[in-house]
Amino acid sequence: MQDQIIIFDTTLRDGEQAPGYSMNLEEKLKMAKRLENLSVNVIEAGFAIASPGDFEAVKEISENAGDITIASLSRALEKDIDASYEATKNARRPRIHTFLATSDLHLEYKLKMSREDALDRIVKMVKYARNLCGDVEFSLEDATRTDLDYMCRVVEAVIASGATTINLPDTVGYSTPSDIEKMFKTVINKVPNVDKAILSAHCHNDLGLGLANSLAAINAGARQVEGTICGIGERAGNTALEEFAMAVKTRNDIYPFSYSLKTQEIYKTARALSSITNIKPFPSKAIVGANAFAHESGIHQHGVMANAKTYEIMTPESVGMVKTEFVLGKHSGQHAFVKRMEDLGYSLNDEDAKRLFKDFKALCDRKKTINNRDLLALVESTEQWGENDWTLDSFVVNSGNMMTSTACVTLLHKGKKYQEVAVGSGPVYAAIRAVEKLVKHPFGLCDYSLNAVTEHRDAQGEVFVKISDGKEFYRGRGVSTDVIEASILSTLAAVNHMLNSNEYSLGSSINAQQLSLDEDMLVGHSDKKVEEE
Ligand code: KIV
Ligand code: ZN
Repeated sequence: MQDQIIIFDTTLRDGEQAPGYSMNLEEKLKMAKRLENLSVNVIEAGFAIASPGDFEAVKEISENAGDITIASLSRALEKDIDASYEATKNARRPRIHTFLATSDLHLEYKLKMSREDALDRIVKMVKYARNLCGDVEFSLEDATRTDLDYMCRVVEAVIASGATTINLPDTVGYSTPSDIEKMFKTVINKVPNVDKAILSAHCHNDLGLGLANSLAAINAGARQVEGTICGIGERAGNTALEEFAMAVKTRNDIYPFSYSLKTQEIYKTARALSSITNIKPFPSKAIVGANAFAHESGIHQHGVMANAKTYEIMTPESVGMVKTEFVLGKHSGQHAFVKRMEDLGYSLNDEDAKRLFKDFKALCDRKKTINNRDLLALVESTEQWGENDWTLDSFVVNSGNMMTSTACVTLLHKGKKYQEVAVGSGPVYAAIRAVEKLVKHPFGLCDYSLNAVTEHRDAQGEVFVKISDGKEFYRGRGVSTDVIEASILSTLAAVNHMLNSNEYSLGSSINAQQLSLDEDMLVGHSDKKVEEE
């Protein structure tokens, strides 16, 4: 039996702290489902005390989780630990994760505490957490710059106080693999009760060493690895879990470990993250980048055709990437369509299959060949419609370089048609204003981007928008061969999220008056941060 590594995902906490990655409740729930399908062992769902939104997200994720551990981060303070406890208590497997910095640098300048005072507080807070929850993780923040003798004293004391997992983070991404190896080996050799807890690695990527350090940690004795999907996180990010999983799988000769993570779910999980945040991985990003399995050079192509192993150390299928590029078109039947969706990782029920097949056929009338990227764009953009949503019936735009653009948009809502005309300095502006007038709820436009899904002139345009009601932001995506239609569809998706959101109250709608498109197209969203106390 190989030693099992516990995979701890912090995409929704450390990852979400990174600029551009903050998610609303619905998006966090969607991402948590994907992480559960990926079969990580622990989801750190948030930092419950950070904001009411974070608390709600941790609580909802906990209540909807299956047999998976849900953790919430807390400073070493009673009020934080209480919030984490309240938010996770309904999970089948709750975990309270608490932390305090232990390096002299942090103790002196940030916490203004002596080593002894910090140790007292740590012990008190771990005991406090352990009284509330049987599963307690303690992190020695900035562990890699902590004096090793002091570290051993802290680790021994927190294990004696009931902590079940001890995390030794490389908070600032300063260490090298040999530093990490030395740190874990010292703790394992010097702390007498170390066998009573799991040691965990949490490596940041400031020097690009996050993955190498995590691998060094497991070889030195760590049995939990923390990281995020695509390596998102504070500054240069965290260890990318998909890279860690594939490194262990591909080089099992030197990393003889196992884990429960299903590598075939990796691609889908990474796509879910980029479709929620509209941030795509860099094309050459290991494992999930668009070029990760592409062989452009003739020599490589020749080698791969003769024997894939010449240039492929792992298969695209092993991470859930489907390479079948034989295209679908208007003569393809529903059976072939459903089968391809299955290959792409989407098992459709009868109703969804019928609905999506209809959309697929409509697309075939506009575009000769449909490839996997078109299909993924189709399924990802239609996932977002609900029963009470506003949907597009029809639109007409009139635009040119010598005139003011006009849009006439007709929407359907609960079986009725509504129509409005609006003008703007361009057709997209006019169309979005018409939508705003129809739904009678002003919003600000924080972000708008347009990309071609595939190559060639008949490619679909994929529009991504982020709107704000002044309190929360809502994202939407729309895909069409007509970019005005894609703009309307993406705006409607975001507007429906806004209107369906529990947070949407009269108060927020009054606030939103200041945010209508007329006044300001670009509204920033400030990321929340919790100050150290
Ligand atoms: O990087 C870090 O030290 C952390 C801890 C709070 C676990 O994210
Ligand atoms: Zn971190």
